[in-house]
Amino acid sequence: MLILGIETSCDETSVAVVEDGLCIRSNLVSTQEKLHLKFGGVVPEIACRAHLESLLPILDEALKGAGVTLKDLDAIAVTNTPGLIGALLIGVTAAKALAWALRLPLIAINHLHAHIFASKLEYGHAPEFPCLSLVVSGGHTSLFLSNKETQHQLLGATLDDAAGEAFDKVAKLLGLGYPGGPAIDNIAREGSPAAILFPRSYLEPGSLDFSFSGLKTAVLYHYQELVGARRAVPLTPVPLTRKELADLAASFQEAVVDVLVEKTLLALRKHPVKGVALGGGVASNSRLRQKLARALEERHIQPYFPSPKLCTDNAAIVAGLAYYKYLERDMASLEVEAVA
Ligand code: KG4
Ligand code: ZN
Repeated sequence: MLILGIETSCDETSVAVVEDGLCIRSNLVSTQEKLHLKFGGVVPEIACRAHLESLLPILDEALKGAGVTLKDLDAIAVTNTPGLIGALLIGVTAAKALAWALRLPLIAINHLHAHIFASKLEYGHAPEFPCLSLVVSGGHTSLFLSNKETQHQLLGATLDDAAGEAFDKVAKLLGLGYPGGPAIDNIAREGSPAAILFPRSYLEPGSLDFSFSGLKTAVLYHYQELVGARRAVPLTPVPLTRKELADLAASFQEAVVDVLVEKTLLALRKHPVKGVALGGGVASNSRLRQKLARALEERHIQPYFPSPKLCTDNAAIVAGLAYYKYLERDMASLEVEAVA
């Protein structure tokens, strides 16, 4: 069974063809990083125009790469929530048009559930359910108790900034460019994670929610002290030494990672399952993977960490998950809406 997946929820236009939910025949991703670079973050209007321009050429390439034509497809899947509304609308409209023209079933996919599915695509047989799923991306930081591929119970989520957003904002402050996550991950390797003790926000005892806005402010204040200019908003990045930048990045990253690991362990105490699946762009972070893997190993919990290219936004996770929704006959109508 061949499913075409479309993903346009944020700043990556992606089309994939996946066979029987597990075999990736093609997975094309066109990133808009260059377009958003000078703004230091995703500009929604630019993102949706770029999706409009690149979606059809990528669709052609994905079909060619998979060695199939539109006639070979069995279903069309698309991310319809959550994401930037204008960006989602491009993918959803294209998917509806294809499904209608080809008389194929349409399957609507929740982007966070697709991120969780990355583990299944990576490992084939895994994860063993029930498991915990931690989705850490630019827009979300959410912990789920996953009962099967299509069923995820939300245990906790961020009350303010997502982890990836905090990475991006701190990188912007430090003049490290966009997207900030990989830039901080890289320079942090040269720094000391213990150089600066940034606050870890655990919220009230037992809470599985997250908060990263205070940490972001703490980094801002520390930076302002370092450059000797305490202003409400930094107007221009003042150059720090490479060592200062590396220490700041490593200490900030450590604070984010500590909270993510601690909350996952707390969730495991409340829901003693055998495995933890990681997904979303921040799941590529080397320090998070290292510390979480160590903590899980000590507790004999199986880590399911997909490779970085499946962690960041891509359509293979959309088409893969759609197969399981298809088996459950969970199709969408042509009236299905994009939901921000
Ligand atoms: O899942 P994703 O591709 O898009 C969303 O659904 O948001 O995640 C993008 C986020 C960005 O904030 C980016 O900075 C972050 O993932 N990211 C990382 C790393 N690679 C990507 N954050 C920390 N360390 C990384 N290595
Ligand atoms: Zn994502």
